[in-house]
Amino acid sequence: MKLTKLQLEMLEGKHGYATQKSMEILSALGEIFEAEKMIPVTSVQIAGVSYANLGEPGLDWLSQMAKDGRVRVLTTLNPAGMDLENWRVLGIDPEFAKNQERVVNAFAKMDIITTCTCTPYLVGNLPHYGEHIAWAESSAVCFANSVIGAKTNREGGPSALAAALTGYTPEYGYHLDKNRQAHVATKVKASITGTAQFGTLGKVIGEILDSKVEWTIPYITGISKASTDELKAFCASIATYGGTALFHMEGLTPNKMRVPKKTLTVTESDLAEAEQELNEEDAEIDFVSIGCPHASLHEIRHIAELVEGKRVKKETWITTARPTKQVADRMGYTKIIEATGIKFACDTCCVVAPIKGRFTGLCTDSAKGCYYGQGRNKFQIKHCSLEECLQEAFIE
Ligand code: F3S
Repeated sequence: MKLTKLQLEMLEGKHGYATQKSMEILSALGEIFEAEKMIPVTSVQIAGVSYANLGEPGLDWLSQMAKDGRVRVLTTLNPAGMDLENWRVLGIDPEFAKNQERVVNAFAKMDIITTCTCTPYLVGNLPHYGEHIAWAESSAVCFANSVIGAKTNREGGPSALAAALTGYTPEYGYHLDKNRQAHVATKVKASITGTAQFGTLGKVIGEILDSKVEWTIPYITGISKASTDELKAFCASIATYGGTALFHMEGLTPNKMRVPKKTLTVTESDLAEAEQELNEEDAEIDFVSIGCPHASLHEIRHIAELVEGKRVKKETWITTARPTKQVADRMGYTKIIEATGIKFACDTCCVVAPIKGRFTGLCTDSAKGCYYGQGRNKFQIKHCSLEECLQEAFIE
């Protein structure tokens, strides 16, 4: 791989330890994927922030990098293992909280903005069409590539941090236009509305793509309208069930792609079957979680309208980015929602927070939340619309 003078200096250690280690990671990655050169990135989003995932070895590595590493581009974090301010109310163990704070402090020392969210594009880390970036969280990567039209591979925690500390990433994968063409025309012959249904659609298409190695990018037709919230739900789901990092939805997303010859069709009955899989019979629900991916201001406002004056009977969380909640505070939505007993969980989510064993059954409008709730946390699952989730929260 051809490196510039500055990149070579970084590799030789002339710009400090953390920059050198970062350039080593990026060069190795570039060699593996046969990149010809490094390209500048303008935005980074780092995943692997929960202490539950990092542990002491991960934290040691971060602390080493934080000694002299400082980011060169706008960088934010994925959700951490807890609400950084309100962790006590959410029942987080103080020992875990102490360690999670050490992790976030190490990132802060590197000048990383410690907004911990999987929807950075809603709170100020918003690239534009065609911009090269290095993001890590799968749903955000899919949203950035597909809905925004920025260009990113799905980075791991170390490679995203390395991109932030150097300002570069090797040019391969989704940074190259030749790799951003669709493989299969995907006709949706069903009416889809609401975040839950878009999540179900993501599961159906994702699972088909996952079963065919040669199909990575779908060219989707048949969807006439989708809100940003619906697209974020779809991105999270198709990335979870299919590992998909890029799709095109005709008339709705900005990338220019040729329509592939190979075709697959998604029908109402495919969706009904998937919906059945997302709903365990007789699931014993004692936990309701909304906000996977992190709830938008629009969703929070809608929740406030739906719950005003009521009282929840089950533990219910809204997971969101702290800046989103701060606006909700100012608008009075938080007050209405918290008066019902619903809790806000900022900076974290029901998947990365250490809540395994605390609940029996999870009710959520997120297909991704169901996948991890069942797989990682061993919860029974119920998948339904946001409105139905709230109704579930009000039942004894
Ligand atoms: Fe975000 Fe956590 Fe869901 S990171 S996409 S809220 S699993």
